[in-house]
Amino acid sequence: MSVLNAIGNTPLIEIPSLSKIADAKIMVKCENLNPGGSIKDRAAKSMVLKAMEKGLLKKGMTIVEGTAGNTGIGLAIVGRALGFDVTIVMPNNQAKEKERLIEFFGAKLITVPPCPFADQNHFYHTARKMAEAEPLKYWWANQFENLDNHLAHYETTAPEIWQQTNGQIDFFISASGSGGTMGGCTKYFKEKNPNIKTLLVDPEGSGLYHFIKHGEFKAVGSSLTEGIGIMRLVANFKEAKIDDVYSLTDQELVSVAHYVRFHDGITLGSSSALNVALAFKIALEEKKKKNMHKTYVTMWCDGGERSLSKLYSDEFLASKNLSSDLALFENLKK
Ligand SMILES: Cc1ncc(COP(=O)(O)O)c(C=O)c1O
Repeated sequence: MSVLNAIGNTPLIEIPSLSKIADAKIMVKCENLNPGGSIKDRAAKSMVLKAMEKGLLKKGMTIVEGTAGNTGIGLAIVGRALGFDVTIVMPNNQAKEKERLIEFFGAKLITVPPCPFADQNHFYHTARKMAEAEPLKYWWANQFENLDNHLAHYETTAPEIWQQTNGQIDFFISASGSGGTMGGCTKYFKEKNPNIKTLLVDPEGSGLYHFIKHGEFKAVGSSLTEGIGIMRLVANFKEAKIDDVYSLTDQELVSVAHYVRFHDGITLGSSSALNVALAFKIALEEKKKKNMHKTYVTMWCDGGERSLSKLYSDEFLASKNLSSDLALFENLKK
């Protein structure tokens, strides 16, 4: 057994306060309990092991990846456990906690200024160009286009949820970054039961909402969330089977995050708070239609401690015209 065996098989827990208000079962899969503290450990493990099997990643090579952070932490752990060096390219506007963690877990960190995807200095292209320049030295994980990412969720995350719920799932809800979670989980659930409703939740500033509704990528505003939202169609996302899409505001996720921290002892990261906010919103809408006692499953992608300087900093929230005041949670019930 190695640290790789500690990835996955995470608990699925209920959020009692929200379940009670909505007369529903609102559940989160505790991906924050993976060794690297996020859902991306699964993708890292799957991509690395499958690349070794295919002979693409060989002894002595260095793993390189461009990431908003959590994939970098996952790759660092898997790389160290299997004897590979890891180099991570990350935009410099992510929570500083994650930069510290990437180096703490043993990867080399390169930060670049954030820029549009079309710019060749984007973190994605920086990692790609390093691998292309020295193909014998680097193996590029390429989480967006590498389908071994979504397979992690098709082969492990979704089957675990299926077993943990005895297949009693009414709604599956998730945000999307690389599309691995949404691609793998929705494909698995729809094969098992096409009646499970699969909902995507998109933060402000991401183009997935407009793409699904109108066929092109357009976005307004910006969001404090990290690791989710995108302005292009990527291979892992193409695998997803999505019934509907919603866009929520940062204030909605902030209110939910602070409410469940206070009432349930559950400290969600920002993407997870967005996930839970949509699950709660849909459950309330279904309650109004007298469709109660349904099961809503979503992801606790990473923990709030990774966002102490953002989601859980009143100073930061005020700078974005957001507030952790629990009174604002009442607005969600209207
Ligand atoms: C905190 C967090 N939540 C959600 C996601 C999205 O997961 P996926 O890349 O599988 O779409 C990521 C991806 O990096 C993440 O870091």
